[in-house]
Amino acid sequence: MNFLFDIVYKKVVFDMTKVECILRPNKIKEVKDALGSIGIKGLTVTEAVGCGLQKGHIDMELEAWDNELSITLLPKTKLEMVVTDDVVDKVIDTIIKAARTGQVGDGKIFTYHVNNAIRIRTGETGEKAV
Ligand SMILES: Nc1ncnc2c1ncn2[C@@H]1O[C@H](COP(=O)(O)OP(=O)(O)OP(=O)(O)O)[C@@H](O)[C@H]1O
Ligand SMILES: [Mg+2]
Repeated sequence: MNFLFDIVYKKVVFDMTKVECILRPNKIKEVKDALGSIGIKGLTVTEAVGCGLQKGHIDMELEAWDNELSITLLPKTKLEMVVTDDVVDKVIDTIIKAARTGQVGDGKIFTYHVNNAIRIRTGETGEKAV
């Protein structure tokens, strides 16, 4: 019974997703402001380096990337936020609209299910804590 209660309760109350995106550093302000305008308040920003399909190369022909052995790490910025599931699609749309240039290296968005959040000051948990 407790087990069933847990499933139902968590399904109703604790539906949250972590949206993590790796973006061009010069797009962060635009993305952050756009997220602010749709009501996103809590987020974390981390300076990072990384590479994607082109292994960090930005000045070669497409076919050459596959043959290139060395990997170059380019400056990127990681932006992460935990949001309630009802706003995930809107958050993703907003990030894409603000971050996209159409050139390689625009970045990536990953989503993860989150099973709880706790506001340390008040002890609130779940959706109330994000
Ligand atoms: N599979 C991955 N796992 C973790 N991080 C990734 C992954 N792919 C990309 N990244 C991160 O995202 C950054 C930007 O990736 P990027 O936009 O170049 O991806 P891509 O797959 O090469 O797409 P594009 O062809 O549009 O460039 C990378 O520098 C890296 O930090
Ligand atoms: Mg790339």
